[in-house]
Amino acid sequence: MHLRDRRKDRESPKYDAIWTNARLATMVTGGAPYGALEGGALAVRDGVIAWLGAQSALPDAPERLAARVIDAGGRWITPGLIDPHTHLVFGGERVADFERRVAGESYVAAAAGGSGIAYTVAKTRACDEATLFQQALMRLRRHVANGTTTMEIKSGYGLDIETELRMLRVARRLEAESGISVRTSYLGAHVVPPEYAERRETYLDLVCDVMLPRIARERLADAVDVFCDTIAFSPQEAARVLIAARAAGLAVKVHADQIADSGAAVLAARYGALSADHLERTDEKGVLALATAGTVAVVLPGAYYFLRETVKPPLDALRRHGVPLALATDCNPGTSPLLGLPAAMNLACVLFGFSPEEALAGVTRNAARALGLADRGVLAVGQRCDLALWDVGSPAEIAYWLGGTCCAGVVLAGKCRAADRNSD
Ligand code: NIG
Ligand code: FE
Repeated sequence: MHLRDRRKDRESPKYDAIWTNARLATMVTGGAPYGALEGGALAVRDGVIAWLGAQSALPDAPERLAARVIDAGGRWITPGLIDPHTHLVFGGERVADFERRVAGESYVAAAAGGSGIAYTVAKTRACDEATLFQQALMRLRRHVANGTTTMEIKSGYGLDIETELRMLRVARRLEAESGISVRTSYLGAHVVPPEYAERRETYLDLVCDVMLPRIARERLADAVDVFCDTIAFSPQEAARVLIAARAAGLAVKVHADQIADSGAAVLAARYGALSADHLERTDEKGVLALATAGTVAVVLPGAYYFLRETVKPPLDALRRHGVPLALATDCNPGTSPLLGLPAAMNLACVLFGFSPEEALAGVTRNAARALGLADRGVLAVGQRCDLALWDVGSPAEIAYWLGGTCCAGVVLAGKCRAADRNSD
């Protein structure tokens, strides 16, 4: 037995694969900018990073150490990008809204006029599961071609039990089909659907007492989100949903203070939310509450840009109080049709004054935290081997281009996947 074990040890390489000739942006803090390590190598075993460092420090020839050696060709490698806020699954699009808005109509006016979210709800309800899945998969592939390896996907365009379940099932199937990690959030409290316009309480009963327990029981959601704002739910109403979610053992998050400051960031902090998202109109009190609770701020420059917003999230205060800043695409048909995180990084730099390094931290280290995932977001031994490879001269260049993609491919738990932009 002993002898056989030893022989097996000698015969089978230590690692499943090694990437050599790599420039690693580890995103580990405390050292060089981007946690950079040039002339690097990285080894994976069983889907987890098992070794990384200077290639010259490898204890043996790469071919003897690993079953597979991949020459990274001097490319930069970052942690696989993490998108902590998307509404990827939906029916139809909102091009008519877009045309009206560029001609001057506001987002709130569209919502009041029955287009906006209600329009997408009608389109989504009319879509069968296969169609929803195919359309979302096409969008997902564009995101993956831009370096995304983990994505949060919300429901919230169904607002009835069948369609909410359908959206979440589609999100779960997207994970199985694509190989990327998907975290799902139940957003039954996105807005009050038209048929409940005069019966808000009754709709909240349905969300809290019927849909949420069923979704928790069927393990279709990892978290519960609520849109706490003037066109959606008041803090009192939102609190009901957050309490029900916590009682069901689910993590919570909040769409907070996008249109008005209704104290949604304070609410998110009070219920120990993983993240509070948007935050354009959050005041200092809200920022302090987030800092105290350890809630991550997820800012969404795509929605800010697409809605021609003029009020920015309180970034200086968030930085001053040490609130971790994450970035997301908010990919959705109404306010942020963004199909990749590098575009969100570019917008965060140009519109919100992020440094490119802050932007990359926002879609790696801090995005992982926004989803409560401790096993990813930096390149380090013991972390999941989710990588993105980039045809860039420096990590800052990832945030520089707008449109197209400089992602050469992604690695999902140690398995390579080319960024095949056309056939995908
Ligand atoms: O994150 N703010 C609420 N929800 C989405 C918008 C959804 C829509 O307009 O369809 C957002 O921006
Ligand atoms: Fe959103």
